[in-house]
Amino acid sequence: MKSMWKMSKRKFKTSSIDKSENGSPSVHDFSEAEKIKFRCLLLEWYDEKKRDLPWRKQALNPDINQRAYAVWVSEVMLQQTQVATVINYYNTWMEKWPKLQDLAKVNLEEVNELWSGLGYYSRGRRLHEGAKKVVEELGGEMPKTADDLQRLLPGVGRYTAGAIASIAYNQVTGLVDGNVIRVLCRMRIMGGDSTGQAVQDKLWSHANSVVDPERAGDFNQGMMELGAIICTPKSPSCDNCPVKEICLAYTKVEQEKQKSARKILTNKNNVITDIECLADTCPLCFQHEDSWEPSNGVENYPRKGKKKAPREERTDVCIVCRKRHESKDEYLIVQRPHKGLLAGMWEFPSLLQEGKCENPAEAILDKACRALLQTTGKRQHIGEVVHIFSHIHQTYVVQTIIVEGGEVTLEAEQPPSRWVSKEEFLECAVSTGMKKVFKAFESALSSKSSTQKNKKSSSKSDNKQRSINCFFKPKSS
Ligand code: ADE
Repeated sequence: MKSMWKMSKRKFKTSSIDKSENGSPSVHDFSEAEKIKFRCLLLEWYDEKKRDLPWRKQALNPDINQRAYAVWVSEVMLQQTQVATVINYYNTWMEKWPKLQDLAKVNLEEVNELWSGLGYYSRGRRLHEGAKKVVEELGGEMPKTADDLQRLLPGVGRYTAGAIASIAYNQVTGLVDGNVIRVLCRMRIMGGDSTGQAVQDKLWSHANSVVDPERAGDFNQGMMELGAIICTPKSPSCDNCPVKEICLAYTKVEQEKQKSARKILTNKNNVITDIECLADTCPLCFQHEDSWEPSNGVENYPRKGKKKAPREERTDVCIVCRKRHESKDEYLIVQRPHKGLLAGMWEFPSLLQEGKCENPAEAILDKACRALLQTTGKRQHIGEVVHIFSHIHQTYVVQTIIVEGGEVTLEAEQPPSRWVSKEEFLECAVSTGMKKVFKAFESALSSKSSTQKNKKSSSKSDNKQRSINCFFKPKSS
């Protein structure tokens, strides 16, 4: 269905927003007066309504390097993660490593342990690498501009550089994250693919030109805050929005409502003020296949290009449990290679089904585990556990092997593998997926009836099970 909005496009000459077809400003631009209004309204709202978040206190530290470090940590943690989840991790991190120098001294293992459960583990690794670089190569001085932050620090992209520079240094530079995309696409009715080049370029250009020249950090945080608590993806709270009077999506929706109530909307010259881009083809507008859905209101913005479906993977996981006299059970865990997915994290021996054997690090592990594998034990099918990574739909097919007595040993000092108690397992650098696997294992064992069921299905399907040896063959990372 062609959008009503598109269809009405040629019918009316529009308001002052569109002055000409090829000239500026277009409907997608802010006038100078709108920019000034935007800054005032947003900052006033932010001052009154901003959430009390731990990194905001840290950002007031008189030491500039300390401020930059504190903002850096928060912004990295906040990427792809909800504020509510980040708060505890952030507080723990800053208590443990209050200064860059503290972080630079520890090893990656400790960083992974603290990061466990937060996901996207390369973020913590890069932060750690960056801290080491600042201490060892930059004399403990954080780069002092957005350009230098991005150029010199691993894992610091355009967004993070803009956030550190504006919040910690008050550099007048904009930033674009998911919240800002939503706010600006709605304010300037940009319905083109928000991940595409044209819209991205326009968003960055807006972010850099609307940012408040005196309070850049607060303005940027204000835009993110607005996106997080008012201009939300679903059911935005437009009535409470401080910038609704300069939001074109809001204005357009209000107009549509009035039109459908048959109130013709005119300005004082009696010209209908439809809000519309007048360009014949505009990469910032809805594209042909898109349509404006009136019932979605401002939620018509932003539009995202089609997301690639996550790839399906199945991975066999074996929980090797060692029973020991008069002490706690122990579990064998192995360390993943230092590159690729979940780099350096620990897991139960796992084997990607239909995976390619590419990884020498895992071949070493294979060798070391052979002694263990001579040991016969009771095998039991536990079940399947699904875990979604950003790009992988992972199904863990879990079984357990119980090895009795304490005599089982790994080959001497070989690769990263170790026995841990339940408590140690939960404390070490394991992914959320592996914690789910462990939970499934525990509930299968603790439930008598399910244990019996599992026993039956395990003995029935034993022939179909892959040999325990297969868990220790090299796999791709
Ligand atoms: N999201 C990411 N960084 C943020 C910040 N500093 N304030 C509010 N939301 C954010």
